[in-house]
Amino acid sequence: MSKFTLDWKQYAALARQAAAEGCVLLENKNNTLPLADGETCAVFGRTQFEYYKSGTGSGGLVNTSYVHDLDYALTESSLTIDVEVKTAYKNWLKDHPFDLGNGWAQEPWCQVEMPLSDELVSGAASRCQTALIVIGRTAGEDRDNAAEKGSWYLTDGEEAMLEIVCRHFSRTVVILNVGNIIDMSFVDRYEPSSVLYIWQGGMEGGSGAVDVITGKVPASGRLSDTIAYHIDDYPSTRNFGCEDTIRYEEDIYVGYRYFETFAKEKVRYPFGYGLSYTTFDVQAALDMCSLPAGLAKGEVSKTDTLHVTYDITNTGDVAGKETVQFYVQKPQGFLGKPSRELIRFAKTELLEPGEGESGILAIDFYSLSSYDDSGITGHAFCYVLEEGTYTILAGTNVRNATEIGSFALTETVALEELSQQLAPRRHLERMTPKTNEDGTLVPIIQAAPVYLQHYSEDTCPQCADYTGDKGYKLDDVKRGIVSMDEFLAQLSDLDLCHIVKGEGMSSPKVTPGTAAAFGGLTPNLTYFGIPAGCCTDGPSGLRMDCGTNAFSLPGGTLLACTFNTSLNADLFEMEGIEMRNNHIESLLGPGMNIHRCPLNGRNFEYFSEDPLLSGVIASAQLEGMGRAGVTGTIKHFCGNNQEYHRRFVDSVISERAVREIYLKGFEIAVKSGYASSIMTTYGSVNGLWTAGNHQLNTDILRGEWGFEGIVMTDWWAEINNAPKDKPSREKFAAMVLAQNDLYMVTSDTTQVMGDLEAALASGRLERRHLTRCAENICRFLMNSPALLRLTGKEAEIELVNVPENAQLTSDFDIVYHDIKGVTTLPLNGISSEKGDSHMFGITTEGFGTFRISITASSESTPLAQMPVSVFVDNQLFGTYSFNGSEGKEVTLSREGGVFGFHHYVRLYFGQGGLTPISITFEPIDIVTSFSDKD
Ligand code: BGC
Repeated sequence: MSKFTLDWKQYAALARQAAAEGCVLLENKNNTLPLADGETCAVFGRTQFEYYKSGTGSGGLVNTSYVHDLDYALTESSLTIDVEVKTAYKNWLKDHPFDLGNGWAQEPWCQVEMPLSDELVSGAASRCQTALIVIGRTAGEDRDNAAEKGSWYLTDGEEAMLEIVCRHFSRTVVILNVGNIIDMSFVDRYEPSSVLYIWQGGMEGGSGAVDVITGKVPASGRLSDTIAYHIDDYPSTRNFGCEDTIRYEEDIYVGYRYFETFAKEKVRYPFGYGLSYTTFDVQAALDMCSLPAGLAKGEVSKTDTLHVTYDITNTGDVAGKETVQFYVQKPQGFLGKPSRELIRFAKTELLEPGEGESGILAIDFYSLSSYDDSGITGHAFCYVLEEGTYTILAGTNVRNATEIGSFALTETVALEELSQQLAPRRHLERMTPKTNEDGTLVPIIQAAPVYLQHYSEDTCPQCADYTGDKGYKLDDVKRGIVSMDEFLAQLSDLDLCHIVKGEGMSSPKVTPGTAAAFGGLTPNLTYFGIPAGCCTDGPSGLRMDCGTNAFSLPGGTLLACTFNTSLNADLFEMEGIEMRNNHIESLLGPGMNIHRCPLNGRNFEYFSEDPLLSGVIASAQLEGMGRAGVTGTIKHFCGNNQEYHRRFVDSVISERAVREIYLKGFEIAVKSGYASSIMTTYGSVNGLWTAGNHQLNTDILRGEWGFEGIVMTDWWAEINNAPKDKPSREKFAAMVLAQNDLYMVTSDTTQVMGDLEAALASGRLERRHLTRCAENICRFLMNSPALLRLTGKEAEIELVNVPENAQLTSDFDIVYHDIKGVTTLPLNGISSEKGDSHMFGITTEGFGTFRISITASSESTPLAQMPVSVFVDNQLFGTYSFNGSEGKEVTLSREGGVFGFHHYVRLYFGQGGLTPISITFEPIDIVTSFSDKD
């Protein structure tokens, strides 16, 4: 039996290192950073105490035992923090508590800042050498950013803070605790000495950032996005936040692909940019000998490679890390190309002054190709290398990269012949370059090709006829005793209809508080030895809504800015062991949608505007989790680029942009990261909701890329059968036909059958289609720890150095109660001393409003106060203020909405002295199906 060790100290150290390496230093006049030991600092901005560890929504819901905010980390550091300013903030915060809004998607993007008097700031400037000014922002699921004050722009309060502090201090450091890039025009207005993006760094985030501020860790983060002067400079902004249709008019010209090609002057900080505390000499070359002999004549295949070499030396006085970035400039040809595209990068280890590192990297020719979605090159629906000169560039950001070699092709080569997939069905105008007489490129708008009535072939193989029970269990397939076909032949059509749906949230069949159970969820499926698999959010750590604590990781943007693949892999190996410890097979992350527009609320979960960086970082994280025998679910496949109306909006994207930008990261994660679990989106791409899209989930994903894992929907996603068909949450047949294997989620898979039976009866859906999904699910589970748990072969997980209150392991024994009609559960005998919690699970009959009443007594006199707080899935349902009742029974009631079917209820006793007797759940208005809810 294998053994895994989760060493908290190592985990925390890796997360802290990542939080530090992801910090991007954009300004550093007079080497203001790093601050010297003992340097006196006044810290401004409330976010120093209220650090945003992540954004909001499912990607941020991690319960933690601690968060090391900036105040904590600064206090622990070698700096001397001004007490007067700190005390002023602490006093002010007492009357200005953090505004959480009304929960999910309602949290304000920012908090009100404390007004600063000249007296306070000038006093601080007379005592301190340096001012640190912290700006905080959040956004997230169902809550995009907006080009408004408090989101993309600073608030008046923040402007006032910067103005007064920069006026009084000569050394100023602006620290941006944000999930996403923000407007940077304040740099011109207030000219701060240093500007550091620290992003949202998880529970160790404050410590990581302060390590960079003090120089304990050198600044080495690089921007994963371009920062332009204005939000309107991004060509996507004008087509963002649309209600029904988003037209991706900028086409492949996303981020630096647009700016470097057409509008260099609009860039404030280029992609890949970031300052260091030292200097480096970076030498790189294209190894001409590595080029295939017949290359010029077009004798080259997609797997042939060229080699680039690099040699980096630390020429400064302190240790540091540098990232070398390789770009290609392709001939404009017929297709038109961005003037630079990232093809590879490498980050050094920590180099001491004078120390160097060199390396050789192989780059395949597929990475240099472009997709022809119109046939203009003579090779329709092919990845091609158009004739002309290919220049390879190297540098430390996209702007300073210079030529290191080139080669020319005398004819155009079709590297991979594919077929038209996911093309727009509606007219789309898209950007393309036109070359001026002086050689400069200007964007012009042209019509993109539309869909050519291409219907997917039904490639689903026949399956074995139903045999009924032959006594085979899933483990027999694993042990080679029986084939998967023979095994699945035992499952009835009904069993197959059950296996293609998961259950959640917080299903009692798997780890408490997690997002979904899937696989062996019915007695029949369990009988055949199919385990129940478990998955949960998300990119920044394990979300367990019942309150189990987990490790909260830095967000995706920060992790991409590290440009450090091995660090990502090592960190996610820890995450993998933590998953294993909590019986979770698949994390619902990494999130890898493209940062198409800086206003997308979920950008904090995603990596970058660049697909290569996204794919490579995701692959590293998958590799890490893979070392622990678990995996991640890469999401959202594909085109989830705004939160507003995400269930209903149709993204109209050219096939070329889909393939080169929006699918590319996923392709890399499948081909190089061996992804085995994918989540489709809520929305539609070119008329078809992704969950029912055969071209996406079968033709491209499995046919072209060779994916053999599972595909799941996003939670309660809509599906449609064909363009113009109205999507619904019950069109499961289209989902199965498309080979999106799992519907996430139902309350009970046996009760939510949607159109499956009717589709089977009509012959539109056949047993073979269901069997194909069942095979994907069973293969996934067979190779996961879920089967090892079922067969008693699970590895031993050892937890070491875990802080006392970390509670890193789920309570797998939570008792569940069915709530049918008015249901009273006894509470006699539970411990109800001050600070005690009592937890249990409930399964309700549907969605709706409940009255929850608690009956209790107390021997105390009527003036005694004994509050009991009821939390449902960790959200406060209400606090019941009991008074002493001199022994009499008292019932207090509250009403509220309860979402979903499975919940955790936790009673928290704020004071001792109360004797709880019972809790009653009374449904007020309950609906039992999704369609009722709509
Ligand atoms: C989100 C997913 C998430 C799922 C489960 C959805 O609302 O879009 O990213 O994994 O919920 O929480």
